[in-house]
Amino acid sequence: MSGRPLRITSIVGARPEFVQAACVCQAFARRGHREALIHTGQHYDDTMSATFFDELSLPAPARHLGAGGGSHASQTAAMLVALERVLLDDPPDAVLVRGDTNSTLAGALAAAKLAIPVVHIEAGERCGDLTMPEEINRVMVDHVASLHLCASRAAVARLQAEGIDGAVFVGDVMHDVLLCTRERAAAAFDPWRGRGLEPGAYALATIHRASNTDDPRRLSRLVDALSDGPTPVVFPCHPRTARALETAGLAFGPRVTVLPPLGYHDMLALEMHAAVILTDSGGVQREAYCLGVPCVTLRDATEWTETVDAGWNVLAGDDRVRILEAWQRPAPAGDRPGIFGDGHAADHAVRAIEAWMAGRGHRHGGRA
Ligand code: UD1
Ligand code: UDP
Repeated sequence: MSGRPLRITSIVGARPEFVQAACVCQAFARRGHREALIHTGQHYDDTMSATFFDELSLPAPARHLGAGGGSHASQTAAMLVALERVLLDDPPDAVLVRGDTNSTLAGALAAAKLAIPVVHIEAGERCGDLTMPEEINRVMVDHVASLHLCASRAAVARLQAEGIDGAVFVGDVMHDVLLCTRERAAAAFDPWRGRGLEPGAYALATIHRASNTDDPRRLSRLVDALSDGPTPVVFPCHPRTARALETAGLAFGPRVTVLPPLGYHDMLALEMHAAVILTDSGGVQREAYCLGVPCVTLRDATEWTETVDAGWNVLAGDDRVRILEAWQRPAPAGDRPGIFGDGHAADHAVRAIEAWMAGRGHRHGGRA
């Protein structure tokens, strides 16, 4: 690295952000920069947070804001107030946010209002559905961010179409983590042991989107479809979904094994040995693609359209017939296009940040 080290404040709060942070933290450290992780507290159970810090060797957060739970407004407002104080106390060269959570939105807004440059990792993803809280967050964050780092080339084009130029394709930092971790994950755990699951003969399923959990009729249709599939199913259950199932009085059939939220290694091991993955998760859709496991997306739209175009992902919504058909389809033949980069997205991201900061004279404060 040339020039003085950067001082980056990095916002994390929800499960995917811990995974997204892992390789980027290492890349900042390798290049001699100082990154302070601020944990908003959006996810707070050990199984949703601490486990990921341990397994991915993330540095301990410099601050923990304890702003989890509650409505979107109260959660985001609590984060905003606390983050403004953090940024005023110790103004960094830039604030780094990732993806589309309420922590991402709060981090970007707090920084932008203080004229601190915002760097958005996983910028430009869109599913076109503005009823989805994450889509609102993505659009808002991209329109206040100064530097847009994209996981896919399609995202660069989407930003251009919205009038945002200068986005940089770096690849998917979650893909980096998967590549670094998968051998360890495979060796560390036999996910099927004692659960009657044979490699290649079970489906892995996750559900946590508000659109799927908050409408009991839709959730009930998904529970029925997963219970009636052609293979046993293993279902690591997000706390939001556990609560929704309980409130609606819904239960899966006997072929579905419900597990608590899994650590990253166990999850990756279950993904890589699954015959098929059924999910509404953005991260899990991409991991399925990167691992070459056919995916059925339990949503009506996705940001990760390239995985659908490549034939490895099918949008099935909550439609039982579409879900069961997609579940039984054979894996596509041929190679998978390298949509998510070369496995060094985190290094590319840090170099893009260095170049951008150098271009603007590396001064504190003031958006470009
Ligand atoms: C959030 C993100 C979503 C992301 C998901 C990853 C937003 C708007 N949504 O959704 O984009 O895909 O995280 O998992 O930011 N809960 C617990 N323990 C926890 C965390 C949550 O019990 O550790 C329960 C609480 O009842 C909480 C509910 O889950 O109110 C929802 O949590 P929240 O972080 O608001 O949204 P997610 O559905 O997790
Ligand atoms: N994940 C995990 N354990 C689980 C479910 C998911 O480790 O029980 C991992 C998953 O492999 C991916 C990330 O969490 O790396 C995705 O998070 P999630 O599905 O919660 O959010 P999304 O990606 O939809 O925003």
